[in-house]
Amino acid sequence: MMNNLSESVKELLNTADSKDMYFLGRRPSIKQIYNELTNFENFDKNNISNKSRTNMGTTCSLDDRVVGYNSFTIMQNASPTPYEKKALDMGSNLNYFYLRKLFVHPDFRSQGIGTKFIKQNMKLAKGIDKHCIADIEKNNYNMINILIAQGFNEDYNWESWNGKNMVRFFHD
Ligand SMILES: CC(C)(COP(=O)(O)OP(=O)(O)OC[C@H]1O[C@@H](n2cnc3c(N)ncnc32)[C@H](O)[C@@H]1OP(=O)(O)O)[C@@H](O)C(=O)NCCC(=O)NCCS
Repeated sequence: MMNNLSESVKELLNTADSKDMYFLGRRPSIKQIYNELTNFENFDKNNISNKSRTNMGTTCSLDDRVVGYNSFTIMQNASPTPYEKKALDMGSNLNYFYLRKLFVHPDFRSQGIGTKFIKQNMKLAKGIDKHCIADIEKNNYNMINILIAQGFNEDYNWESWNGKNMVRFFHD
């Protein structure tokens, strides 16, 4: 069951064009997708694991077809990686709900699916008493509009290791 779902997510992500890929970053492997989906299935908000970073993923299906994928990481006293320390100037332990990837099939965009995922993220984050954080490429107006419409605030600009202009967003 989860194997089939991982395959469907992989197929979905293969519909991304080069512009989408610029915004999304690297495609996850089937194994990563499988682990993300499984971690979400086992997610218990009353008993969150004390692993420092738990990657999870959720899907959206219409008529049994997977049309959206969203992945995120729950941080629990995570130490910043050397990269996070350098690029994002993060000194202390990280304790937030981090939105990693969001993708909606090109034929199913502008129907509110992306917004639904963001609302679900905010609800999950609130349920475990964490702030929601997202690092978005500065020209990704679609995504930025969605976040602002949901009450996210721009925190600061930063430059990624491969020279992309990024904006960090957060939601209280
Ligand atoms: C960003 C992305 C996930 C948005 O998904 P989406 O399902 O199209 O998002 P929504 O439908 O919620 O919102 C998109 C637009 O539709 C509008 N919209 C929302 N609900 C709507 C509805 N019911 N009817 C019509 N339009 C609607 C929104 O206002 C928004 O318009 P805007 O661009 O003028 O602000 C999608 O474009 C995508 O997969 N992009 C490529 C990957 C990417 O950039 N990911 C984000 C970084 S990780």
